[in-house]
Amino acid sequence: MNALKQLNLTHRLRRLRQTRAIRELVAETVLRKEDFVFPIFIREGENIAEEIPSMPNIFRFSIDNALRECEELLKLGIVAVDVFGIPAEKSDDAREAYHDNGIVQRAVRAIKKEFPELCVMTDVALDPFTTHGHDGLVSDGKILNDETVDVLARMALSHAVAGADFVAPSDMMDGRVAAIREELDDNGFTHVGIVAYSAKYASAFYAPFRDALNSAPKFGDKKTYQMNPANSDEAIREIELDIQEGADIVMIKPALAYLDIVRRAKETFHVPIAVYNVSGEYAMVKAAEHQGWIDGERVMLEMLLSMKRAGASLIFSYFAKEVAKLL
Ligand code: PBG
Repeated sequence: MNALKQLNLTHRLRRLRQTRAIRELVAETVLRKEDFVFPIFIREGENIAEEIPSMPNIFRFSIDNALRECEELLKLGIVAVDVFGIPAEKSDDAREAYHDNGIVQRAVRAIKKEFPELCVMTDVALDPFTTHGHDGLVSDGKILNDETVDVLARMALSHAVAGADFVAPSDMMDGRVAAIREELDDNGFTHVGIVAYSAKYASAFYAPFRDALNSAPKFGDKKTYQMNPANSDEAIREIELDIQEGADIVMIKPALAYLDIVRRAKETFHVPIAVYNVSGEYAMVKAAEHQGWIDGERVMLEMLLSMKRAGASLIFSYFAKEVAKLL
């Protein structure tokens, strides 16, 4: 007691934590439904909704059911989706990726026709479309950069033609943002934006996603194009280049283990920062919740809040629907 008196506690931070009302009044960060982008996996077929085993409540939808899902998202107050396509056929040259009637192109046309108010983003990368599962074209076991960039630009244009509001290159080839910007502009799509996966790390957190898309690399790994988790300065360089090349929004991915990068990016740049709360981050919460080891809902909210607090404006998350119901 005496020791406390000597301290003369003028500053008692607990005053601002006394009641829920006060805590809410002084809260520095809030989650909003409009912060979220829901990734949606779309495959061929009709009336299909296949749950992904490692991602409870997340489905591969045929286009008809994807439309029902979009309707539900809008009702819940979610304003954006990111479309991932699962083609019927994979090939070495990834030709389904830029086909006018490919799965993504048809899905985007259908979604924009029925729900023009929904912001539709599309993933631009070759991995779901290649037999080997790499994000680029391969020759002699090497991932080709410039040849891949040409295909990515073509793919992005086909998404824009279908009606995408944003294209989101997630491949990590050098120079792809500039090539996509030029291709879009040359073809009259100056209004279509680019969300660049700028600092995308070679991460073990993507495993459930690769199950969902059946896109795990058949040989080697992605370390010659995705970033080394050890690096932070390099992330700043990647982001800087993507902004110079014309990115409207930049992304850091995964989210949770890279919040230091998010904070640095927020302090360094003046563009909206996105994070991708990836499949492994989702799966860990679901698995531990299923075991009864954590309160999944509270852990989810705490994780998402931490991303916002670190500086993210947009959060790509499989939790989007679940969290929207709580907000
Ligand atoms: C591939 C891509 C990946 C993800 C989004 N786009 C996986 C990868 O790079 O292998 C991961 C998303 C997730 O884990 O939720 N271009």
